[in-house]
Amino acid sequence: MAKPQNLNQKKVPWPTEDAMQQVYAMKLWGGATHDYFSGNGSHESKLVEPYVEVVRLFLSSFEFPPVVCDLGCGDFNVGQHLVQHTQNYIAADIVKPLIDRNTTKFQAHNLKFLHLNISKDPLPKGDVALLRQVLQHLSNSEVQQILEQLKTYKYVILTEHLPEGDFQPNIDIISGQGTRLKKGSGIQVLDAPFHWPVKQAETLLSLKPKAHPGIIETILYTL
Ligand SMILES: C[S@@+](CC[C@H](N)C(=O)[O-])C[C@H]1O[C@@H](n2cnc3c(N)ncnc32)[C@H](O)[C@@H]1O
Repeated sequence: MAKPQNLNQKKVPWPTEDAMQQVYAMKLWGGATHDYFSGNGSHESKLVEPYVEVVRLFLSSFEFPPVVCDLGCGDFNVGQHLVQHTQNYIAADIVKPLIDRNTTKFQAHNLKFLHLNISKDPLPKGDVALLRQVLQHLSNSEVQQILEQLKTYKYVILTEHLPEGDFQPNIDIISGQGTRLKKGSGIQVLDAPFHWPVKQAETLLSLKPKAHPGIIETILYTL
């Protein structure tokens, strides 16, 4: 006789690597004509150009060009513009075929791509970490693990898609294509449950995307 199904059984989330691989394979972030597409946030020039400019300005404030780790680098439509302003640029993502594609497509003497799960694998050493629209797709427990790992950097620049106005931060989601925006929430690393201990936080940029509600905020954290 067939075993009765346990209807109360909780849905087990997919491993993040499988979820992100599916997002790219099924083009869930759009980009029908692209081989890999990390979403409008990575391609809308009104979002990408000001971001590249503020990060470039920050990188040029160092006496010597810093080592930058781009964690969750995606299709590298954004990161490619920053490589020339660094001593070394290490770009990591959880999707292996995307890292293979980036390694072939983008080449520079100071650029290296790594296949990493940034919540679990040891992170590359560097002065500055960039995480642009990465945490917004991840569960609170994964965000917590990543924040713990980020403590080895002196500077972290986080970019997050947030609701406009007041909102309840850090409502939990399952890691994948979506964000907390559909729950009227967004990531605020200084608030509960994270209470990320930082020395300073400075908002570098706050932009309104054309294709989506909410704002995209970039904050420089000094650790
Ligand atoms: C929305 S895309 C943003 C890409 C890029 N930062 C940009 O702004 O264009 C988010 C990226 O984070 C990657 N990612 C999500 N979770 C990750 C993890 N745990 N480790 C490494 N990469 C991850 C995804 O595979 C995806 O490429």
